[in-house]
Amino acid sequence: MSHDRPLQIVSGSGSYVQAGDGRTLLDLRNGFGSVFLGHCNPEITDALVQQLGQVWTTGRISNPTVEQAYAKIEALLPSGMRFAGSYSTGMEVSEYAARVATAHTGRRRLAGFARSMHGKSAMTAALSWERTSLGNSDCHILPFVHQAAESEILNQVEDLLAHHEIAAVLVEPIQGSNSGFEASLDFYESLLELCELHGTLCVFDEILTGLYRTVPLFFATRLTRMPDILLFAKSMGNGFPMSGMAVRESIETGSRTLPGSTFSDSPLAAAAAGACLSVMERLPMEFLVDEIDQAVRAAFLDLPASAGTVRGRGALWCIDFADLQSSGRVRAAVEREGILISSQGSAIRLLPSALVACDVLGFALARVAAACADESFRKDTM
Ligand SMILES: Cc1ncc(COP(=O)(O)O)c(C=O)c1O
Repeated sequence: MSHDRPLQIVSGSGSYVQAGDGRTLLDLRNGFGSVFLGHCNPEITDALVQQLGQVWTTGRISNPTVEQAYAKIEALLPSGMRFAGSYSTGMEVSEYAARVATAHTGRRRLAGFARSMHGKSAMTAALSWERTSLGNSDCHILPFVHQAAESEILNQVEDLLAHHEIAAVLVEPIQGSNSGFEASLDFYESLLELCELHGTLCVFDEILTGLYRTVPLFFATRLTRMPDILLFAKSMGNGFPMSGMAVRESIETGSRTLPGSTFSDSPLAAAAAGACLSVMERLPMEFLVDEIDQAVRAAFLDLPASAGTVRGRGALWCIDFADLQSSGRVRAAVEREGILISSQGSAIRLLPSALVACDVLGFALARVAAACADESFRKDTM
């Protein structure tokens, strides 16, 4: 059967998906990193099925499934932070964080770092990657480590914050949608200090990195202090849409900040999230993700620099080819070998499930590394 038709996925189970043409593919794409505990994880599926027969939505009136899930999220949070609400998507919760910050500080401008991903609304786009969106004048884009030295970026942050007009700086600690660029821990520590000094809130967008994706519970757990606002989403519902926000206890998120939407506080999303967090509670998540981290490092250790720059940690990796064609070609090549990955811009992205078997992952990574090497050879001989 020809494989030229666009790929269609008809079902998924654990680390694998079944394509419409009958092929089984190992999934290292996992719904853009939302499926972290395997497709149709039985415990999460059971919780959803049970909730489907009870109630789907209550118009944000209290519900036991929602209360239980929120208690689990609250229990996970670093001390000094509280759970401040949920939405369905990452973009919505980023927007909410911006509104909370403007209400808290009384300021109306925001800053973000170039080519971060916080969503595709007018504000979130204007904050990081698109200069044509509405609201540009209130959003300032700072350079990130792919454009300037950290010291230079911090100087620019300081100059900007010194005007005391910026309500919040949003930061994506690993730019998962931009080739995996990441600043040093010292940079993030300095950013937090500068924000505190100038009365600006620091928002860590951990929509992708949160919930063990980079080994610890949150990327920010590796810092000596927590940001003012923490956003998380993808892994929380294992593919069922749910995003959440935690804030420093002193930050108000009451009715003045108009929390929630029609679909937030959904019992169905809460059923998925509650079951997902129960599974995570029982698993040695940090150990599992650290094993993935080591497997990826080992697989790409010998990759020549000409075959792509490897960036990432834990279960979030990008291999950057610096040109826009190679990533698509490598993605297509590994897909022909039964491995599903994504490509974004000049990079391919690997987002394994925490539960992928080590031997299976090791084999797949070797195939991806070989495809990267072939691509480099191809370019050299062109
Ligand atoms: C770090 C980060 N923040 C925010 C978003 C936006 O989330 P959504 O697509 O659910 O709006 C994404 C999506 O990829 C993301 O990776």
